[in-house]
Amino acid sequence: MKRTGLLPALIGVIMPCCLHAAPPAGDADMNAFVNHLMNRMTLEEKIGQLNLLSAGFGVTGPEISTDIENKVEHGLAGGVFNVYTPSAVGKLQSLAVNDSRLHIPLLIGFDVIHGHKTIFPIPLGLSCTWNPAAIERSARIAATEATADGVNWTFSPMVDICRDPRWGRIAEGAGEDPYLGAQIARAMVRGYQGDDLARSNTLMACVKHFALYGAAEAGRDYNTVDMSRLKAYQYYLPPYQAAVEAGVGSVMTSLNEINGVPASANHWLITDVLRKQWGFNGFVVTDYDAVSEMTDAGMGDLPKDAELAMKAGVDMDMVSETYLKYLSELFTRGEIPESMINQACRRILEAKYKLGLFNDPYRGCTEARARAEILTPENRKAARELAEQSFVLLKNDQQILPLKKSGTIALVGPLADDRQNLLGSWRAAGDWRRAVSVEAGISNAVGSAVTVLHAKGANLIDDPALRATLKAFGEDIPVDSRSPQQMLSEAVAVASNADTVVAVLGESSGMTGEAASRSHIGLPECQQKLLRALVKTGKPVVLVLMNGRPLTLNWEAEHCGAILETWFGGTEAGNAIADVLFGDYDPSGKLTATFPRDVGQIPIYYNHKNTGRPYAGDPGYKYVSRYLDVSNNPLYPFGYGLSYTTFSYGNVELSQTNLTGDETLLASVDVTNTGQYASEETVQLYVSQPAASVTRSVEDLRGFQKVPLQPGETRKVTFRITPEDLKFYNPELEYDWEPGTFIIHIGGSSSQLKSAPLIWNRQAVPAQSE
Ligand code: BGC
Repeated sequence: MKRTGLLPALIGVIMPCCLHAAPPAGDADMNAFVNHLMNRMTLEEKIGQLNLLSAGFGVTGPEISTDIENKVEHGLAGGVFNVYTPSAVGKLQSLAVNDSRLHIPLLIGFDVIHGHKTIFPIPLGLSCTWNPAAIERSARIAATEATADGVNWTFSPMVDICRDPRWGRIAEGAGEDPYLGAQIARAMVRGYQGDDLARSNTLMACVKHFALYGAAEAGRDYNTVDMSRLKAYQYYLPPYQAAVEAGVGSVMTSLNEINGVPASANHWLITDVLRKQWGFNGFVVTDYDAVSEMTDAGMGDLPKDAELAMKAGVDMDMVSETYLKYLSELFTRGEIPESMINQACRRILEAKYKLGLFNDPYRGCTEARARAEILTPENRKAARELAEQSFVLLKNDQQILPLKKSGTIALVGPLADDRQNLLGSWRAAGDWRRAVSVEAGISNAVGSAVTVLHAKGANLIDDPALRATLKAFGEDIPVDSRSPQQMLSEAVAVASNADTVVAVLGESSGMTGEAASRSHIGLPECQQKLLRALVKTGKPVVLVLMNGRPLTLNWEAEHCGAILETWFGGTEAGNAIADVLFGDYDPSGKLTATFPRDVGQIPIYYNHKNTGRPYAGDPGYKYVSRYLDVSNNPLYPFGYGLSYTTFSYGNVELSQTNLTGDETLLASVDVTNTGQYASEETVQLYVSQPAASVTRSVEDLRGFQKVPLQPGETRKVTFRITPEDLKFYNPELEYDWEPGTFIIHIGGSSSQLKSAPLIWNRQAVPAQSE
């Protein structure tokens, strides 16, 4: 890394105020600095700042950047992503600040999605903790590690609401609810950015994918989205807005179209909603290659794509280089005014200024710092704690779990001693060799106190066509040299000799995430066969699931004694799973995405509408909104999750049942731990409004509290509710509340609630004169 000579090189462009070691000051200083710099830039250099190159450590699209160093040296790149380590970043940054004409440092982007090297559970798993403070901490740790490794910008948080588990990227978000999604979006932005982006251990966040990406038709990735604005505002946009309110530095457009216009050409979205309505003042970058993909989408040729994106408000072009190639020509032809290019360039330079890059382009990143701050025992401990909290106990008949720390266990399944899948599909810089398998975790937890018999039982996937597709995507699924029957027989023999069977089954991580849509969302067939054979032994079977989406699990739910959903739990997954299996931690996770009974029910989500013909449970009545062949209800609803202990809820008590204007309502419930284990319950508050100017959801989450409870302990849990919590978008798309009757529901799952009604008026109703 060429660090000497940096300061003299920078002096040519840096205003005296920024030669001070102090972090950059207020807006006036920043404006003066950026004005001074931009006055010296050619049009080509300004356009260069709008170009984002991929260095090729990881690639997620058809294009790959070429000639990177040359472009950096010539000021033709504002940032590079898919690069990390102090040496690799140092080399590129040095080219930018020492060898380019104006010495402008680079943004260094990377997909730090759920941890950098210490990998936390996948975001869907993280959301099941219902613990924004812990999620914020995970983002803080990720930022510390990634910045120590040279990164200054992360493409996270991903806040796309999703109601369709066929979509593989449901793994990357916080599930189906806008309220919870918004809390998590805020927490992650705070965690990454801290309170001062200029600190050397903060990362600039990038909220994505703007917008509505999770609503891809039929759950097929990148597919069309056509959605009313009312639905978008009500259910899909709040988490993006929350990230903006939390001060997110950048926003990434999505790869889909919205109501006929691709997101990256969507002026309504980027300029009207994001900038004008929400006041976003950072910069907008496209997703991978999104600008040039607008040609296939049907918007025109490449120059047209560049023009549309620029006019819509996109500042930075990821990988496609359409800006680099066509903006100057578009300017000459009078299609794009220079002011637009200036505006976009200014936003990129401002981001660099806020990150302190003009003071220290390397942000104090050295090999020594990377060694000291990455994968520390404390970081691993945090990963273990978050993993424990993210697991959801779906079933536990006759208290099969927790297991005793004695006797014999048959540990079976292709994921039982796996480490590669534990990190999920966005492992990015994560190293699976540093991950703890379930087998190792169990051995760490019980040593020789428990006899553990092992058998793989089945391949992860037997279907050769699927294996070939995944291999083409870069994921090689190992195939055992034995025949499926040999593996099965071994597993059955092992199970027959054990007290309990622990079957670790699920998806491969490559079956989840980007470009990983599925139309059947059950366990792969070979694993289902294994599970049936294990159940047939008559031994109690504990199913430990690893997967990135809600699965259809009807057979499993009927026949397995216990089911523990562990998602892809990250670096410490194996230890955390053992903690839960043996009762060192009582599971407390709650689902944030509905588990359907059948793919035909999708989209299925808790905050649906009532319809004019709601089904009231009478199977003999036909003309209601229902299926003939499957229940309307999901297998496992939003908010659901068991613990080893049990909780009981008292009735909802309201401080008043007739409220006016800005009064505050207190809604309380007594929650008691009625079981044997100390645990934590996520108490959920939902509100419904049976009549309004637009039809409302049957209920909407409006609050939650995690409450620790000792066995036998009761606590009164109180929610404060103000008119702010009653607001929704009306037909004019105004966000307001309407007076009327409301129902307050409190409970431990969206489908197990205690309720109480009330009336809330705008003004006091005058007393009737006699
Ligand atoms: C994904 C984004 C990601 C980007 C950069 C794209 O394919 O959709 O989520 O941030 O690649 O790696």
